[in-house]
Amino acid sequence: MSRTNSLPAGAPKIGRLVVVGLGLIGGSFAKGLRDGGYCNEVIGFDLDARSRELAVDLGVVDRCAESLEEACRAADVIQLAVPILAMERLLAELASLDLGNAVLTDVGSAKGNVVRCAREQFGRMPSRFVPGHPIAGSEQSGVTAAQSTLFRRHKVILTPLEDTDPAALALVDGLWRALGADVEHMEVQHHDEVLAATSHLPHLLAFGLVDSLAKRNENLEIFRYAAGGFRDFTRIAGSDPVMWHDIFLANREAVLHTLDDFRADLDALRAAVDEGDGRTLLGVFTRAKAAREHFSKILARRAYVDVMHSKDLIFLANPGGSLSGSLRVPGDKSISHRSIMLGSLAEGTTEVEGFLEGEDALATIQAFRDMGVVIEGPNQGRVTVHGVGLHGLKAPPGPIYLGNSGTSMRLLSGLLAAQPFDTTLTGDASLSKRPMNRVAKPLREMGAVIETAAEGRPPLTIRGGQKLSGMHYDMPMASAQVKSCLLLAGLYAAEKTSVTEPAPTRDHTERMLQGFGYPVTVKGNTATVESGHTLRSAQIEVPADISSSAFFMVAASIAPGSDITLEHVGVNPTRTGVIDILKLMGADIELTNVREVGGEPVADIRVRAAQLKGIDIPEDLVPLAIDEFPVLFVAASCAQGRTTLRGAEELRVKESDRIQVMADGLQALGVSATPTPDGIIIEGGSGIGGGEVWAHGDHRIAMSFSVAGLRASAPIRIHDCANVATSFPNFLALAERAGMRVGVEDNS
Ligand code: S3P
Repeated sequence: MSRTNSLPAGAPKIGRLVVVGLGLIGGSFAKGLRDGGYCNEVIGFDLDARSRELAVDLGVVDRCAESLEEACRAADVIQLAVPILAMERLLAELASLDLGNAVLTDVGSAKGNVVRCAREQFGRMPSRFVPGHPIAGSEQSGVTAAQSTLFRRHKVILTPLEDTDPAALALVDGLWRALGADVEHMEVQHHDEVLAATSHLPHLLAFGLVDSLAKRNENLEIFRYAAGGFRDFTRIAGSDPVMWHDIFLANREAVLHTLDDFRADLDALRAAVDEGDGRTLLGVFTRAKAAREHFSKILARRAYVDVMHSKDLIFLANPGGSLSGSLRVPGDKSISHRSIMLGSLAEGTTEVEGFLEGEDALATIQAFRDMGVVIEGPNQGRVTVHGVGLHGLKAPPGPIYLGNSGTSMRLLSGLLAAQPFDTTLTGDASLSKRPMNRVAKPLREMGAVIETAAEGRPPLTIRGGQKLSGMHYDMPMASAQVKSCLLLAGLYAAEKTSVTEPAPTRDHTERMLQGFGYPVTVKGNTATVESGHTLRSAQIEVPADISSSAFFMVAASIAPGSDITLEHVGVNPTRTGVIDILKLMGADIELTNVREVGGEPVADIRVRAAQLKGIDIPEDLVPLAIDEFPVLFVAASCAQGRTTLRGAEELRVKESDRIQVMADGLQALGVSATPTPDGIIIEGGSGIGGGEVWAHGDHRIAMSFSVAGLRASAPIRIHDCANVATSFPNFLALAERAGMRVGVEDNS
């Protein structure tokens, strides 16, 4: 029988598919490809006559063969979907047949074993054999449970060998993709180790625990008292015992390896319980909780992406609206990072409140957890850091991943330069493009050994065991990250370390060091520390982030009729450039209830709509408003007349090239915005149109164009907005509450 459905472009099309083993997996593979019209003919074979009959009746295959030889005659693809321990016999039989040019593939959940058997039976691994493993299943089994959608959005791992025929690999890959699977390629051994750790070990533990308890309680009475935790943990002990018996025998080596590692960890936990070592227990539990939450987020994101069918998170900013009411934006990002860093290096327990639960600050928490610091939370902005002292960090188990966070990478490189162990710092695509020589170069002058990728980009490898010597450094650029990095290195360097900045930048590191009882001298633009002191734990209250507040300051200024109050905002004078610039433009901004909280000035900020005018932005305000320029460009677009920014070349090396990206977006919306090497010229007042703009994964660009929507004549679609979660996870909720008309585009 031949089918003539029209297939999507690039879809595979084969003549004869043979599926050996008509269970849930083999049946679903056959049915999916048959239903989709990807094969001219699907032939099934199974030792069980009833399964053969059912497969034909249920439309899983076109017909079944009576023998393996008959099934495989003139096959294009042969899928081996028999239980893993039956594979050896099947391969022995196949090796005696003339398989012509057929491509072989399989679905076994341990790959080393399949490859070994194939080598033994065929004399060598056939180059047209592509080992595979779909990570999918169902509570039911057998051909009656077969469904053509079983693999949709499930992972399928292919483990080609060095001499696997690329055409055969591409064909098998294409068939799985045609079924909607998410296909990955991996080395055989790696596959077996990953599966042993994430699937086989948990099943062994579940079976083992239930049996152990059941054995000790002959009448099973104990289970009457088992609550949700036991049920959740042991659900998988209800899986097919024969299949799992096969898997453990087939993946013996990898399972033993991961089991031994786990036994060692279990012994350490036992010892901690025995010795009443609460810190170790808390360390294991908090790290596990964080890892588990990370895992849930990956799953949630996958579910989310499933809904969106794309990785591009699009915000839609609808025109109009005005802002009113009071709101408190999340905690300051810079202060949140530093609270974890200094809290970890302090003696004693530091309590943090108002911590920013954004991805960047969470990356810093994870980094210190990786280095053995016990950190509880964050839980509604509360974090408890059990400091280990300046010399208490431990080598992390692997590279430290810092996501999108430049602050984490630059500050950490300073304090890691003097540790006794090596570290590697990595990040996402955006962070991997950012310049790190600005910290690597002066750190090397202090005696650090740091390797970078080409052109001083991440990853950074920092060699441990170096003796640092203090120095004086005249910073070539106004950067709080570079200053902070060197001051943190200075805590470990012989003699004094001093840094002079060309213009004042945020001074949270200096203030917080003092708050932890560590002496810092600041004279003019020079900050100095010396080693030999200790940090003592502190209570930290993180104020609301002025950089996040800035979106609402501009929004309320440009949207007629607006009147909002931003509560508890950090107004450290090294951060208030945005207020000064907006005021120069004619904004109506009032600071009330100014007070000092934990060494940082804080105020409530009332902003009312006002007609703005274009200005020449004073260059001395640039470092004091460095993160707020994207949204200030939106203010300039709504202002009467020309706004000119100079001396802001640093904007080109932020999470994106903020000058170019904003100029491109504003131009797309019909605003006259001309980028210059160190700034931009914006002719304001002639209106903002609707259209498509790209945030380039930069959180502040995404939020700035969301604000532009208030004054746009038509909707603005903003692409690539997922990174808003790095600094302002609840931005959309707060924006909506305040009266903005921005949300995630609904493309359901
Ligand atoms: C930061 C300093 C600034 C700023 C960044 C946070 C900090 O970077 O842009 O968002 O916390 O020290 P630079 O030091 O590169 O100017």
